[in-house]
Amino acid sequence: MAYSEKLLDHYENPRNVGSFGKDDEGLGTGMVGAPACGDVMKLQIKVGKDGIIEDAKFKTYGCGSAIASSSLVTEWVKGKTVDQALQIKNTQIAEELALPPVKIHCSILAEDAIKAAVADYKSKHGENVETSACTGSC
Ligand code: FES
Repeated sequence: MAYSEKLLDHYENPRNVGSFGKDDEGLGTGMVGAPACGDVMKLQIKVGKDGIIEDAKFKTYGCGSAIASSSLVTEWVKGKTVDQALQIKNTQIAEELALPPVKIHCSILAEDAIKAAVADYKSKHGENVETSACTGSC
């Protein structure tokens, strides 16, 4: 299978590998697994007081395309608001890395990881209106 240069670059020199300290402020952590292959991706965002994502890190236990996809999205989310980060689609990742069709689910994993990280950030920072049942009287 022929992989694009961009994919190989992110795979061989992944950006932003690692994780933040537990006590860091403004963290959101997403941990997702791909049912298709069992690969797992952990992605963290660090959000500043102004709501802008300052930094992101990932750890991926998976294939090269998943590693490249997560490396790419940690670069993409920096400088975005959390809501802008939610707009990132797996199709953009797949296009940027020229993923072959059998590897599309690897980019879906990266999109899901961002969504999970943002959801975690929002739930920790009182923005999760959907799951918050408290109306102030509890
Ligand atoms: Fe499953 Fe790539 S083969 S994430």
